[in-house]
Amino acid sequence: MNDTVIGVETRRVEGREKVTGHAKYAADNHPEGMTFGYGVFSTVASGKIAGIDMDDARKSPGVIDIFHHDHFPALFKVPQPMGSPVTSLSGAIVDERRLPFENDVVSYAGQFVALVVADTFENARAAAYKVRVRYDAAKSQVATLAQGVKAAAPKDSGKGHRRGEPESAFDGAVHRVDAVYTTPVETHNPMEMHATVAYWEAGNLHVYEATQGVTVHRNTLARVFGLTPDQVEVRAPYIGSGFGAKLWMWPHSVAASAASREIGRPVQLVVPRAQMFTTTGHRPETHQHIRLATDAAGKLVSIRHESINSTSFTDGYVETCGSVTSSLYSCPNVLVSHHTTQVNRGTPTSMRAPGAAPGLFALESAIDEMALAAGQDPLAFRKLNYSQKDESTDQPWSSNHLNDAYDQAAKAFGWEKRDARVGSMREGTELIGYGMAACNWEAFRTPSEARVSLNADGTATVICAVQDIGTGTYTIAAQTVASITGLPLDKIHVKLGDSSFPDAPVSGGSWATASVMPAIADATRKAIEQLKGYAGNPGTPFADAKPDAITLTGGNLVHGSNSVPFGEVLSKQRIASAEGHGRTEGNGNKEFSFRSFGVHFVEVRWDPGISRLRVARVVSAIDVGRVINPTAARNQVDGAIVMGLGMALFEQAEFDERNGLPVNNNYAEYMVPVHADQPETQVILLDYPDLHLNEWGARGIGEIGMTGLAAAVANAVYHATGKRVRSLPISLEKLMDVPATRAA
Ligand code: MOS
Repeated sequence: MNDTVIGVETRRVEGREKVTGHAKYAADNHPEGMTFGYGVFSTVASGKIAGIDMDDARKSPGVIDIFHHDHFPALFKVPQPMGSPVTSLSGAIVDERRLPFENDVVSYAGQFVALVVADTFENARAAAYKVRVRYDAAKSQVATLAQGVKAAAPKDSGKGHRRGEPESAFDGAVHRVDAVYTTPVETHNPMEMHATVAYWEAGNLHVYEATQGVTVHRNTLARVFGLTPDQVEVRAPYIGSGFGAKLWMWPHSVAASAASREIGRPVQLVVPRAQMFTTTGHRPETHQHIRLATDAAGKLVSIRHESINSTSFTDGYVETCGSVTSSLYSCPNVLVSHHTTQVNRGTPTSMRAPGAAPGLFALESAIDEMALAAGQDPLAFRKLNYSQKDESTDQPWSSNHLNDAYDQAAKAFGWEKRDARVGSMREGTELIGYGMAACNWEAFRTPSEARVSLNADGTATVICAVQDIGTGTYTIAAQTVASITGLPLDKIHVKLGDSSFPDAPVSGGSWATASVMPAIADATRKAIEQLKGYAGNPGTPFADAKPDAITLTGGNLVHGSNSVPFGEVLSKQRIASAEGHGRTEGNGNKEFSFRSFGVHFVEVRWDPGISRLRVARVVSAIDVGRVINPTAARNQVDGAIVMGLGMALFEQAEFDERNGLPVNNNYAEYMVPVHADQPETQVILLDYPDLHLNEWGARGIGEIGMTGLAAAVANAVYHATGKRVRSLPISLEKLMDVPATRAA
């Protein structure tokens, strides 16, 4: 293996395409004769459609057709997934099982109730505003998690864990914490809108889609339209991010594809930003009850983490808040449970570090409270309760360098300068708070395929259906081929994001790198074998050599004193390319528990005079196995820190308690961090290879940085202000002292 490539800071190989505007995103595609769809979206959260008045809309310029529940083709529902669909290459998955326009039932505001197709985007939108829908609105609706819990007992949604006797251990313990933490609805808000461009050719469906998984999206559309997967092509060469919202198909993709078949022309359908708060998933609201207890020495003796999340009336999405809780700390008595409650919102979905992001806000806030209750430093407390193995499965860790992460980050941050007394650290008018929290994410490896060709012109081509969602997968694919062939990166063509390429997993779960590299390596090695076979043909300089004795070095075939560029050997024989098809399986290793570890240290500054809270510094140390491209890897953690700040301080999609309507479904009122909010960040990548997962020891880095950050901020805020905010976001009014009522 060539270590001048793997682990080396590498600029994105597709960077030029992006900065010059040549990279085409879904809605940049305009096939000949394309039309435009624009949705009509429900303005009630619950009820039935009583009637649709389309007279004005039909007369509007350029209108081709208007689809709705009485005018839409019959399609097939996506079956319940079987086996492990999330990581399978043949599965079909949706979060919202209801088909668009399936019937007259409305179960959330912002649900598609009609689709106008017209000759231009402007005409489609203008006509859509003229469609008048009458509703039989339900007398009441469920607008919030709290209302849901009042309306019906939450449903046990499995994925729980129990060991020992957590109840009695808690009751008999020396130090105890018992608190409820909540997180609001958050929305993914990728820069690139959800979009579909669909057209049909000879009974086959072609789709450009903003998706994190072309292979599964293809499988899913095939099920819906009753086609075989080879009759559907889904392309997503570039994605303007997804954060989980683009993992599985949403109604607009079906709507655009069906409309295109009905009118016999291509249809482009972009989901407006407001409906990206309703009909393309969100992180659900959570309510988390945590009870912790220690003995006199501060050793954890009981952990309970019981969560409820909101889901829709159509689907049972589970936010696995306790997924990390069962294994992060050593403790003999543990209970983790997950419940769901139905609300009149669209179906939730995975959002960057699903489960762990809200879960570790709660757990790592509670651990801070527990450390203080036990009279300990929060870092020392975590080290004291470090778990030598995964106690939830009784497996050893494949690789765990959490204590090293703690030490390196604490040193870089200057944790030893922390004065433990609340509100004791000041500079000018500002109170300074230091906080920390662990981060954690499961490490996966899924099946994948890839094809590599070594071409007569001396270049190599790798094709694989996997997508680059902005994370650097093009570069990692090129690095893999470069490290095995010795070719420079600029001689390697990478083609991704097309379902007609060899099947690959979704770009999600932080598993693309760990899953796709082995398939690409397998394909590369097979291509080299074929190349050596061609090299042994009569008339070549290697005709007398055994294939095993020939090596490929720096792009040259070498045997003894013979060294010839491999392209020459192929072109002399008029052979276009030597090829290999790679296929590798998922992680079959049952011996170990595979997780990634890390820690965030955060400094906040609170100026009580003007009620200003700033996150000034973040130092993170992350243990994700071998780092393939440190440039892109650090970029992922930096990005996760920004998103984590949003979660901690700003993000909250609100729904009117009286009618379930979204309130702040736009970029102006759904607050996210801006440049002025950015702290100084330092990301330390530990880089210990985890060779139990793949030959490089790479785990995956997309999500872990998102976990724990909000807790580290909340813990720092407590240290500065003495206010324990258990309900995200940490908005300013939660820190301001309520003015005493003045006597009249
Ligand atoms: Mo990630 S939530 O698996 O895109």
